[in-house]
Amino acid sequence: MPLPEPRPDHTALVTGASSGIGVDLARDLAGRGHNLVLVARREDRLTAIAAELAAQHGVRADVLACDLADPAARDALPARVADLGLTVSILVNNAGFGTVGEFGTVPMDRETGMVRLNCEAVVALTGAWAPKMRERRSGAVLVVASSAGFQPIPGQATYAASKAFALAFSEGLHAELRPHGVSVTALCPGPVQTEFAEVAGAEELFANAPGFSMVSPEEVARQAIAGLDAGKRVVVPGAAIKVATLGGRYTPRALLLPLMRRFYPV
Ligand SMILES: NC(=O)c1ccc[n+]([C@@H]2O[C@H](COP(=O)([O-])OP(=O)(O)OC[C@H]3O[C@@H](n4cnc5c(N)ncnc54)[C@H](OP(=O)(O)O)[C@@H]3O)[C@@H](O)[C@H]2O)c1
Repeated sequence: MPLPEPRPDHTALVTGASSGIGVDLARDLAGRGHNLVLVARREDRLTAIAAELAAQHGVRADVLACDLADPAARDALPARVADLGLTVSILVNNAGFGTVGEFGTVPMDRETGMVRLNCEAVVALTGAWAPKMRERRSGAVLVVASSAGFQPIPGQATYAASKAFALAFSEGLHAELRPHGVSVTALCPGPVQTEFAEVAGAEELFANAPGFSMVSPEEVARQAIAGLDAGKRVVVPGAAIKVATLGGRYTPRALLLPLMRRFYPV
């Protein structure tokens, strides 16, 4: 099921487009001729990225600064997009963050805020636009989950659970919406060099990750949008991470959890 054709009054809305994977997802979509609505909190960054992508690719790129963990701000987004005279034909739920540390050692508002962003906002934004795509029998939704979503992770218990939620939500919707002409794809990257580790307060997080397990944000975005265009259910970029996710999915928890507890870098 291919991506919808670009149209002057249609747009791809990309959350978390002020840094990391989101920038490259937006860049890839602009390269295919899609207008953009870029959403995150740091408006200055979004404005600079929008100007760059509009100039490079000749698309319209609008900026809507929004804290997606704030339900009132988030609920106002659909009207703000409508005020721009745009229809969302592609939704990229990318904004998210992680925490690192044993449960109870990370401030609880970070943990609950993460669930609001990684889970609640994904449902709310998808709820705002996917039913309209279904009515039009055209559209695409990308949900950025994580390889962390394939198994519980001691030391990142809330993050892994939030991404398991995102993955299961996306897979369920994939089956529901496919017969109605809407593709839904879950993107599950392994370690990617972005601001993620710094935001998680654990700059050492990927320090011991073997080089072959790292995939660049550009390559992650390329595989994600190609997978969305091909109607894939799940995209896991990189051979090493594909193998690791098989372990996460199929190793009995009784064996996996003690191993992860011992070797995971937390
Ligand atoms: N990097 C990895 O290793 C990795 C691996 C697997 C999955 N992922 C997932 O990939 C996605 C993108 O992460 P990244 O690696 O690109 O990290 P990043 O560089 O830190 O980017 C995160 C993006 O989310 C936005 N964001 C954070 N809180 C927000 C909020 N409350 N409201 C609106 N936007 C918010 C940030 O923008 P502002 O700060 O400007 O709001 C930023 O644009 C996340 O869902 C992450 O869980 C990352």
